[in-house]
Amino acid sequence: MAERKNRVLLLLLLLATPCTAAIYGRPHIILILADDLGWNDVSFHGSDQIPTPNIDALAYNGVILNSHYVQPTCTPTRAAFMTGRYPVHLGMQGNSLVAAESRGLPPGKILPQYLKDLGYTTRAVGKWHLGFYKPEVTPTYRGFDSHLGYWNDYVSYYDYILQERYSDGEYNGFDLRRNLSAAWELAGRYATDVFTDEAVRIIQGHDASPLGPPLFLYLAHLAVHAGNRGKLLEAPQQEIDKFRHIRDPNRRTYAAMVSKLDESVGRVVQALQRRHMLESSVILFLSDNGAPSKGRQPNWGSNWPLKGVKETLWEGGVRGVGLIWSPLLQQTPRVSSQLMHVTDWLPTLYTAAGGHVASLRHDLDGVDQWESLVYNLASPRREILHNIDERGRTAAVRFHNWKLIIGTVRSSALNGYFGHGELDASYPAYNETSVVNSMAGRAIIAASSSVYINPTRAHQISLLRSSAQITCPSNNSLGIPPCSGKELCLYDIESDPCESSNLAETHRSVALRLRALLSAHRNALVKQSNLQPDVRGANPKRWNGTWSPWLLDGCGSRASEDAYFNVCDRTEPL
Ligand SMILES: *[C@@H]1O[C@H](CO)[C@@H](O)[C@H](O)[C@H]1NC(C)=O
Ligand SMILES: *[C@@H]1O[C@H](CO)[C@@H](O)[C@H](O)[C@H]1NC(C)=O
Ligand SMILES: *[C@@H]1O[C@H](CO)[C@@H](O)[C@H](O)[C@H]1NC(C)=O
Ligand SMILES: *[C@@H]1O[C@H](CO)[C@@H](O)[C@H](O)[C@H]1NC(C)=O
Repeated sequence: MAERKNRVLLLLLLLATPCTAAIYGRPHIILILADDLGWNDVSFHGSDQIPTPNIDALAYNGVILNSHYVQPTCTPTRAAFMTGRYPVHLGMQGNSLVAAESRGLPPGKILPQYLKDLGYTTRAVGKWHLGFYKPEVTPTYRGFDSHLGYWNDYVSYYDYILQERYSDGEYNGFDLRRNLSAAWELAGRYATDVFTDEAVRIIQGHDASPLGPPLFLYLAHLAVHAGNRGKLLEAPQQEIDKFRHIRDPNRRTYAAMVSKLDESVGRVVQALQRRHMLESSVILFLSDNGAPSKGRQPNWGSNWPLKGVKETLWEGGVRGVGLIWSPLLQQTPRVSSQLMHVTDWLPTLYTAAGGHVASLRHDLDGVDQWESLVYNLASPRREILHNIDERGRTAAVRFHNWKLIIGTVRSSALNGYFGHGELDASYPAYNETSVVNSMAGRAIIAASSSVYINPTRAHQISLLRSSAQITCPSNNSLGIPPCSGKELCLYDIESDPCESSNLAETHRSVALRLRALLSAHRNALVKQSNLQPDVRGANPKRWNGTWSPWLLDGCGSRASEDAYFNVCDRTEPL
């Protein structure tokens, strides 16, 4: 009896220790999501062209997720992240949302709502792209306590305008919001800075006391997505000037955009440390899909040496930059090849937050990876359905080391290897010391005084960096590989990550087995829900020049709420 009492006392004591409570209870969860960032555009993957010392500092002190898979475009990846379900089960496996489409993420509980159940404060900053045709599909109605950002696919970096071209002409609208209200006062300021300032402000204003709520911060940057025609790439001139060693002026501006993104990561990590929140944080840095090095709206990003670009099912489209950092992770640093898919974060983060996956819905496609991430165990995942696009007639599935691809997305011109321009040029050598001295690097060292972290030193970095680099067996620039898109194409991704040898003929039975897997998934598919744009309803001219919700049932009844009123306040009659 006495012993039992002691144990209870001990437990209470443990719970009362602030650090312990925060760490073993509910960590702060920070997701920094980059948009259209290429595999080769972070320097921890081996390129010297664009130094990303802050992102690298997290990578070298955490786990580099080198087999982290996403969907090939923006909306599907975000839908998968929020729901833990494959887009084919949501009807969201087709094209990303366009502005005037009366469509959004289907109803149902999503990640921020699950985390709210566990007591989290939930904040969204930056891109949404899961619908806004009615207020009920926007972030503050889907589980976020607040949102500063934009609802569409992208905007330009200073004016926050999205230009859309529909069959009858071009439509321009402003898209920057605090919750539902247009944030005109921020126009003219660089988007990456605006979103970073907001993230830092949220961290500074967060109740970081031991009994305060844990924070879920979803920081979904505009960077490094291309903007509107005529100004695809934008960055402050002084940042561009740091990259004089890059000859191609577009790639040079892109480098500056990446560099601002890296600075953002540094500022966020530093802010967490200053509030003593870093010690009890889980930080993820992910890209939503590969870079569109080529295509309709290129950003000059590079997925080299991976094949393909954004929109394609090649590794360059779906194998995303990924890392996780947290003092909770054991045996760090390491490069992980454990198979992960973006749907895994819902159950994984729910477990990290102290929830029990048994209380989640039972038809999740995501797999709880928390234990395997923390303890360096084998991935519980064997298979990834990359996608089935029943309209575009393309599909791909991964099973163990094998990947089967059927069909060609958009055009066979995207089936090559891009983003290796200037590989021959000489750049300033990679500087390990600048990684350790970066904002994120220094914050990690500072946090290590209060919680067990053994910060990675400069001399350990080159080894990590070379093991995080993918090198390919053959010379990738040798024309289009023999996979026309009509037949089955089969690759052994573990030995051939660059998808250069189609093994469908030599390994026919494997190819057929994977095709059977695809057929099984095809039977459970929800038809894609894409709609023709409702140009008349969404026309920004009707909404004081903004992209605004246009289906406002109940608008009148809620007109007393200022923010809502703002949306309902049409300037032109119907
Ligand atoms: C956004 O909405 C939430 C909840 O209604 C509110 O607490 C918060 O203050 C709002 N933020 C802004 C900037 O209006
Ligand atoms: C590397 O970066 C550090 C600053 O962190 C700087 O002092 C040093 O001069 C740099 N080394 C080289 C070779 O540029
Ligand atoms: C790869 O092939 C291209 C085209 O044939 C050639 O120009 C280039 O030098 C080769 N690169 C290497 C590293 O062998
Ligand atoms: C309408 O748009 C202008 C900017 O073009 C802005 O200054 C003004 O505040 C907006 N009016 C309302 C009611 O939101």
